[in-house]
Amino acid sequence: ESHETILSVADLEKAASKKLGKTAGEFYNSGSTDQITIRENSTAFSKYRLRPRVLVDVSGVDTSTEVFGRKISFPLSVSPAGLQAMASPEGELATSRACAKQGVNMGISSYSNYSIEAVRSAGLSAGPMSHAIQLYTMKNRALQEHIIKNAEAAGCSAILLTADSPVLGFRYNEWRNDFRTPEGLDFPILEQTSEDIRRQTHDGVFLGFNDDSHSWDREIPRLRSLTKMEIWIKGVLTAEDTELAIRHGCDGIIVSNHGGRQLDGVLATLDALPECVEAAQGRIRIHVDGGFRSGTDIFKALALGAECCWVGRPAIWGLAYDGEAGVRLMLETMHSEFRRCMQLTGCKTVKNITKASLARYNGDGVL
Ligand code: FNR
Repeated sequence: ESHETILSVADLEKAASKKLGKTAGEFYNSGSTDQITIRENSTAFSKYRLRPRVLVDVSGVDTSTEVFGRKISFPLSVSPAGLQAMASPEGELATSRACAKQGVNMGISSYSNYSIEAVRSAGLSAGPMSHAIQLYTMKNRALQEHIIKNAEAAGCSAILLTADSPVLGFRYNEWRNDFRTPEGLDFPILEQTSEDIRRQTHDGVFLGFNDDSHSWDREIPRLRSLTKMEIWIKGVLTAEDTELAIRHGCDGIIVSNHGGRQLDGVLATLDALPECVEAAQGRIRIHVDGGFRSGTDIFKALALGAECCWVGRPAIWGLAYDGEAGVRLMLETMHSEFRRCMQLTGCKTVKNITKASLARYNGDGVL
């Protein structure tokens, strides 16, 4: 298969899923229980249509924006998703290099198969970029502190505290397939070896280390006292929690439902975004992930008030398809679609993408 056949992220999904096979493919691609939220994350985009302005000089279109105090080439980053070496041996190292080469940032999952230092230096060897470390609310507070200090020393810009996972969502595929991480893959950030984790199910591993007694008051002041990195809450879906993130002095929120892998039946992230933006009134930065599969999807989220979008599975599909080159192909595809969408809607800069760029669609069968 040559790259010429991959014209879209949907093409990449198909090609990659074939290569991954059943167990790994279902682990990456599935959501929880009834698969409602994972589907709605993507279908929500069709509730909006674009309002293009014409005869605008878009010859010098600028797709860049600023995130974590650094310019990125367009408003997209790669979400923290674990176990990337199962998709391609170089896993997170390849993703990191691809992000640097395409000028975007990356979140490093606590379940990364490579250490924070290794992922960070792989990226930096390919170009300037920022990394955020994804953090769980761990029972082992000493290990969590160690991860935070390591991330800061390695030069990470932010903590993404995953707040939607006191326990794991029900993921039937993992049980039906008795999913275990493949032999030889460690979780170095969590200090778990291949032998440790192969003895247990994914659910068992998670319940063993994660602390479900977490709370705003318990977590945020502690993180602030431990680090100068930015603190972002990943997994906010409501106005109420947006307000709490502001009150606790967080730097940003990621409107996220964990790609439909946690509680099934919550709002699609694009549907939750407006109430979070409205509640924030510009007092906190707002990013979003879940179901973004094209440049037009990014455009719609920006029009609804997001500063930047993130993608999880598309990067995995890129890795599975062709390692680093596959992740670059995914990012380049999304970037060129986003650029073309800006030009065809008459937006010269991302600041020109506003509420006026969208209309709610009331056509048959969509709402
Ligand atoms: C994830 N995600 C995730 N999130 C997190 O906070 N910590 C983690 O360790 C993981 N691991 C993980 C593994 C896999 C295989 C997937 C697909 C996802 C969720 C991820 O950060 C992000 O929120 C979603 O992937 C976004 O949705 P899309 O783009 O995959 O639809």
